[in-house]
Amino acid sequence: GDPEPVQDFCVAAPRGDGEAFPGLPCKPASTVVSDDFFFAAHARGASTDNPTGSGVTPGNVEAFPGLNTLGLSLNRVDLAPGGVNPLHSHPRSAELVHVEDGEMLVGFVSTEGKFYSKVVRAGESFVIPRGMMHFQYNVGAGAARAMTVFNSQLPGVVLAAQSLFGAEPEIPDAVLAKSFQVDAEIIKLLKSKFRKG
Ligand code: GLV
Ligand code: MN
Repeated sequence: GDPEPVQDFCVAAPRGDGEAFPGLPCKPASTVVSDDFFFAAHARGASTDNPTGSGVTPGNVEAFPGLNTLGLSLNRVDLAPGGVNPLHSHPRSAELVHVEDGEMLVGFVSTEGKFYSKVVRAGESFVIPRGMMHFQYNVGAGAARAMTVFNSQLPGVVLAAQSLFGAEPEIPDAVLAKSFQVDAEIIKLLKSKFRKG
């Protein structure tokens, strides 16, 4: 997780020009108000009207400045029927998936290559260890919703397909083709889905 706090709070202020250090500066304590500790964006879900049928509403320190130095954050995940929050990992945090509505298959792969997964229903939780590749897949008939809780204010996200096939500038086809043991044509197809240009 993140470093321990050294004061009650440090509500994030925008970084000044040329300021470079880990984390975010604090706004003056005299200007901190109750609303700095309040976050309402999770009252609504993100649209799931997209190719994966999923929408994540982030609640990290960038969205919720009151979290700065507190070592935790949370997202809301909405899934349409059949929707999947696509394979990704968080370099700086474990993730607790608490399902609030519907049923989803939640799974991760360990460094030993072992796949751990469960169908998780409303009121139930599943935990994903830090850095492991994981997903949530709606296996129910209706919409599904989860809150995901992190022991970092900014867990970071590496989207598997996006980071490999959508990198800018692109990773050479030969590297990807050899890595995945497929023809370059398949790599070109994947790049056409994940590269913007
Ligand atoms: C779900 O996996 C999330 O990162 O919010
Ligand atoms: Mn995640």
